[in-house]
Amino acid sequence: MLKVKLNLEAPEAIETSALVTWAFQETAAEPRLETGLAAFDQRTGGRLAELAAGGELTGRAGETLLLHQPAGFKARRLLLLGAGKPEKFSLADLRNLAGTAARFLKSRGISEFTFFIRPLQIGTSPADAADAAAEGVALGNFEPDRYQTEKKNRKAIEALQLAGLTQDAEAGVRRGLILAEAQNFARELVNEPGNRLTPRLFAERAAEVARQVGLSADILEENRLRELKMGALLSVAQGSEEPPRLVVLTYTPQTWEQGKPVLGFVGKGVTFDSGGISIKPGEGMEKMKYDMAGGAAMVGALRALAELKPGVKVIGVIPLTENLPSGRAQKPGDVQIAMSGKSIEVVNTDAEGRLVLADALTYARQLGATHLVDAATLTGAIVVALGNVHAGAFTNNQTFLDAFQASACAVGEKFWPMPLDDDYQDNIKSAIADIQNVGKGRGGGAINGAMFLKEFVGETPWIHLDIAGTAWLEEAKPWMAKGPTGMGVRTLVHFAEHFGG
Ligand code: BES
Ligand code: MN
Ligand code: ZN
Repeated sequence: MLKVKLNLEAPEAIETSALVTWAFQETAAEPRLETGLAAFDQRTGGRLAELAAGGELTGRAGETLLLHQPAGFKARRLLLLGAGKPEKFSLADLRNLAGTAARFLKSRGISEFTFFIRPLQIGTSPADAADAAAEGVALGNFEPDRYQTEKKNRKAIEALQLAGLTQDAEAGVRRGLILAEAQNFARELVNEPGNRLTPRLFAERAAEVARQVGLSADILEENRLRELKMGALLSVAQGSEEPPRLVVLTYTPQTWEQGKPVLGFVGKGVTFDSGGISIKPGEGMEKMKYDMAGGAAMVGALRALAELKPGVKVIGVIPLTENLPSGRAQKPGDVQIAMSGKSIEVVNTDAEGRLVLADALTYARQLGATHLVDAATLTGAIVVALGNVHAGAFTNNQTFLDAFQASACAVGEKFWPMPLDDDYQDNIKSAIADIQNVGKGRGGGAINGAMFLKEFVGETPWIHLDIAGTAWLEEAKPWMAKGPTGMGVRTLVHFAEHFGG
């Protein structure tokens, strides 16, 4: 596991395998070194200015320049990362630069480095900068290589020093590591294939982490789901040999008392989605192991909250099932009664996420959640609408979403607001039941999914996050491996930490 410490020495005096910092892009027409690097340049005897004049050090985003045995420094290497235009620089960029450094260096067999954080002009405290940098390196370290037998030869960054900060950055280091480990834990779960993370195994992993960090855990088995009349969740599970589970993780702060607000974090946990009888095309179906990414994000968030101990109570509810076709599977046209009592015509068995969430949302409210946030890889339509950059955010309470967006902004995750007004309601009216699980007509698929969920939250303030496009990275970024992203964890944690009710 990554070790991080502050080093308060001057950067040139630090003994390290690599001293890393960044260069901004200069606006001057002539290629030249960013003025902020003048002191560094002097130490190297003008090397940096020379490289800038020659066009090898422009500061453009994505640029990497590695110098060996740099004159004037005790470090064995100097790594300069392009940071783009200074006026656009944010904490998110700092996090990504740290991740880029980690991935660049570890791929060259280097396991230790020092990140020199230059004075930031973005109104950021040393603790926030340390948080982002530690996070970036820990997230960049992650590889989805659990099942690759050769991985033992692969290097990771084991030790990181943060320079350029002050002693009060220490709290940020701790927070950054807790968050990144929680996010990596979620990524680890999402990466697991369907045969190695069934609903039962997911529940076991959640219970195990709950034990480790001191959350209370309740794992509901099939008989209890039946007693609770969770007809929507059970209808999805009935086609599979693997029994469903419902995981409840609870974080209760010492200061909690009856009447205070309670956050309900609900995450879709379909450990494999074949579509059921409305079966999906074979091509790309293997990816549907990630259909539990919302649930994994919630477990990750609760794990971090148990360590950070904010003042708000949070209940995580994760409905777990497979969605498979069989002689016992539900059929298109079947009518199911959800726990809330609403009847649902299941027009398409592949719209299973909203079915399992319907009962989980109902149960979260029954457990006392006064505010709800759900995350789900719910629709392909959100990918059409927003691509792989923003997740979709839907709400029945704008003030609640505004607060959530402030957290997203603070931690560098992106959610785009989507509409959810009553005009869409006709889309999910059924001719024979209260509602149907897919919309009529072809448009607005992600909205129809959200409208369906809205039927189960009543007046409770609620946010629905459709993360189908952002939970999985199709192509590696310089700061992040291809595969599961753990998107949502950081925002959810920040949101809970700052939640006022
Ligand atoms: N898990 C899928 C959504 C999904 C699709 C996630 C593609 C990631 C990539 C969900 O259960 C699903 O199948 N949704 C259907 C809904 C439709 C039948 C109304 C979809 O989006 O096609
Ligand atoms: Mn589906
Ligand atoms: Zn699904």
